[in-house]
Amino acid sequence: NNVLDLALIPGDGIGPEVTAEALKVLKATLGEDNVKATEYGLGAEHWLATGETLTDQTLEAIRGHQAILFGAVGAAPNDTRIPSGLLEREILLKLRFAFDHAVNFRPSVLYPGAQSPLANPGDIDFVVFREGTEGLYVGNGGSMRTGTPHEVANETSVNTAYGVERVVRAAFEYAQQRDRKHVTLLHKHNVLVHAGHLWNRIVNEVGEEFPDVTHDYLHVDAAMIFLTTDPSRFDVILTDNMFGDIVTDLAAAVTGGIGLAASGNLNINGTAPSMYEPVHGSAPDIAGTQQADPTAAILSAAILLEQEGYADAAQRVHKAVWEDLAARDTSARTTQQVGDAIAAQV
Ligand code: NAD
Ligand code: IPM
Ligand code: MN
Repeated sequence: NNVLDLALIPGDGIGPEVTAEALKVLKATLGEDNVKATEYGLGAEHWLATGETLTDQTLEAIRGHQAILFGAVGAAPNDTRIPSGLLEREILLKLRFAFDHAVNFRPSVLYPGAQSPLANPGDIDFVVFREGTEGLYVGNGGSMRTGTPHEVANETSVNTAYGVERVVRAAFEYAQQRDRKHVTLLHKHNVLVHAGHLWNRIVNEVGEEFPDVTHDYLHVDAAMIFLTTDPSRFDVILTDNMFGDIVTDLAAAVTGGIGLAASGNLNINGTAPSMYEPVHGSAPDIAGTQQADPTAAILSAAILLEQEGYADAAQRVHKAVWEDLAARDTSARTTQQVGDAIAAQV
C-alpha cells in the first residue's frame, strides 16, 4: 500500500504548533487514512523528565519510518536548566549525522503576496544546497586551560572529498533540471585555503561532467551583498554547513521572512529516512501564542511529498500556499487559522 509512514518530531516551542498544521495539510492532501504519523516526544520536556535527549533505541525506531517531519528543538536563551545547544546537538544534529543527510536542501522563492523587506527584490528563485554532515558542525574541537586567561578553544572544520563531492554532484544534477542551470559556490578560499581548495577543485571537476551547467564562485561575504542588492542573480547556491546556515536565514529574510522558509535534510543514498523541517527554530519569544506562521512547516511538508514520490500532491500544497499568500492581508491570523485555510484549498 502507499500509506505515508511518518515519524513526527514536534519538539519545543512553536515546533508542535507548526507541525500540527503541516500534518493537517498532509492529511488533507493525501487523505486522512493515507498518512500514518508516529509521534516521538523529544525535546526540552523529555530531557528534563528523563535526562535523555535521543537514545540509540529511539533513533533506530525512527529509522524504520519512510520520512521524518520535524518541528524545532531548543530552549529559550534564559532557560538555565538546559545547557546551551544540548538539544540541538543531541537531537537535531544527531539525526542529520546518523541518517547521513548529505544535502540540506533549502529553497528561497519570493512568492507573489510575500513581503520582501527589499525595495527592489526582483524575481527571487534559488535553492541553497547546504552540506549537511561535515564542516564546523561535527564537534571536532576542544578547549585547553579552560576558564583561565590563557584558554584555547578550537573548532576544526572537517571537509572530506567524499562529503564535498556528493553535495556538489547533487547541486549540479539539480541545476541541470532548472531553466538557468547555474551553480554558485560560496566559500572563503582567500582565507580558508585548505577547505577552499578542496571545494573549488571538486566543483571544477564535477562541473566538467555537466557541460550544460555553468558555475561561478563568490566569496561568501561579498555574496551577502548580492543577496540583498541583486538576489535574483542566484539559481543554485552551493556551500558548506556553517555558511549555509547563515546564508539561509538571510535568504529567508529577503523572501518574506523566516516563517516561510522550508527545508529538507536529504539522505541521497537511500540508507535512512530524510527529514523535513522549517528553517526556523523553536521561537521561544512567541511560543504558545498561536502567532507562529506555519507556512514554513507546510512548505517543508511539500518538499517531503515531492521527495517521497508524491509530485502531484506536492504541487497541490504549493498551489494552496501560493493562493493563501496572495490573499494575505494585514489582519493577523492564528497558526491554526493559516493551517486551516491552506488545508481547505488543497
Ligand atoms: P528562531 O528561528 O527560533 O527565532 C528567530 C526569530 O524569528 C524570533 O523572533 C521568532 O519569533 C521568529 N520566528 C521564528 N519562526 C517563526 C514563525 N514560524 N513565524 C513567525 N516568527 C517566527 O531562532 P532563535 O531565536 O535563534 O532560536 C530559538 C531556539 O531554537 C534556540 O534554542 C535555537 O538553538 C533553536 N533552533 C532550533 C532549530 C531547529 O530545531 N531546526 C533551528 C534554529 C534554532
Ligand atoms: C538550522 C538551525 C540548526 C543549524 C541548529 C539549531 C543546530 O540553525 O537548521 O538552520 O545550525 O543547522
Ligand atoms: Mn539556522
